[in-house]
Amino acid sequence: MTENMKVAVIGQGTMGAGITEVFAKAGFEVHAVDNSEAALERGRSIVAKSTGRAVSKGKMSEEDQQAVLDRITYFTDTAQAVSDCGLIIEAVFENLELKQSIFKTVDEAAPADAILATNTSSLAITAIAAAVSSPERVVGVHFFNPAPVQTLVEVIRTVFTDDAIVAKLVELLKGLRKSPVVVNDRAGFIVNCLLVPYIGSAIYLYENGFATREEIDKAMVEQAKYPMGPLALADLIGNDVCLAVLEKMYDETKDRVQAPAPILTRLVMANMMGMKTGRGFYTYE
Ligand code: CAA
Repeated sequence: MTENMKVAVIGQGTMGAGITEVFAKAGFEVHAVDNSEAALERGRSIVAKSTGRAVSKGKMSEEDQQAVLDRITYFTDTAQAVSDCGLIIEAVFENLELKQSIFKTVDEAAPADAILATNTSSLAITAIAAAVSSPERVVGVHFFNPAPVQTLVEVIRTVFTDDAIVAKLVELLKGLRKSPVVVNDRAGFIVNCLLVPYIGSAIYLYENGFATREEIDKAMVEQAKYPMGPLALADLIGNDVCLAVLEKMYDETKDRVQAPAPILTRLVMANMMGMKTGRGFYTYE
C-alpha cells in the first residue's frame, strides 16, 4: 500500500503543515491543500522554518531539507489534489459542516481504495463519516502538536470503519516511527479526554486568582515533570482548540469539570489563541 503512495493533507495550519512535514520527511510525495495562496504560503513557511531549524542544529543537511521541500506540491483545488492519493488527511479548522463538505468532495474525487482520515481533535468522526457514501474508509488520525516531534497518534474508528483500514493505517504510522493507539469515537478520544480537563482546571485556578500563571505552570513542570505547564500548553495547542474540545466534551457528558472557564472564551473572542497569534496566557515575539 505504501509503495509510491501519495498523501494529501488538506489544511495547512499548524497541524496540517506539521503532518505534511512528517510525511515528506518520511519520503512520501505530499499534496498540501488549502483554500488560498496565502494559506499555502503560511504552510510552506511553517515547514521551511521547522526543517530550517533542524539544518541550523546540524541535524539535517541542506540537501535533505531541499529534498523534503521538493516532495511537497501545493494545491488550492482539493479534488485535483486527492485524485491520485492513497491517503488523505483533513486538518482544517474545527467546523463540522466544512469538514463534511470536504469529505464529500474527497469521497468523490479520491481513488476508491484511498483512506479518508481526519485530524479533528473535537468533532465526532462518526458525523463526518456519515456524510459520505463510503463511510467504511473514514477514520480519525489524531496527531499531537508539534506533529513532527510528538510520537503518539490516536487512530479513531467509528461503527462504520473497516478493520482493514485501521490495520493499514496503524502499520503506516509505525513506519513513520509514530506510536499509534486505537480508540473508539468519543469526544476527546483518550488524550484530550484526560489532558484538556486538566488544562481547563488550571485555567479556573488562574481565573480565580489562586496563583500566577507562572506558579501554576511551574508547579506541574517541577512536580509532575511535564515538559510544559498547563497554561503554556494551552497556548501551544491553541486556545481555540482547547475551547472546542472542552465544549464538545461538555456537550457530550454534561460534566461540570469539562465546562470551559469564561476567561478561555474571552481569550478566543479576542483572537488571543496563544503562540499562533502571538498572545494567549503569555505573550510571544
Ligand atoms: N515543529 C517542529 N519541531 C519542533 C517544534 C515545532 N513546532 N517545536 C519544537 N520542535 C523540536 C525542536 O527542533 C527540538 O528538536 P531536536 O530535539 O531534534 O533538536 C525538539 O522539538 C525540542 O524542542 P526545543 O529544544 O526547542 O524545546 P523543548 O525541549 O522545550 O520542547 C516541546 C518543546 C517539544 C514543545 C515540548 O515542550 C513538549 O513536548 N511539550 C508538550 C507538548 C504536548 O503535550 N503536545 C500535545 C498537546 S495535545 C494536542 O496537540 C492534541 C489536541 O488535539 C489538543
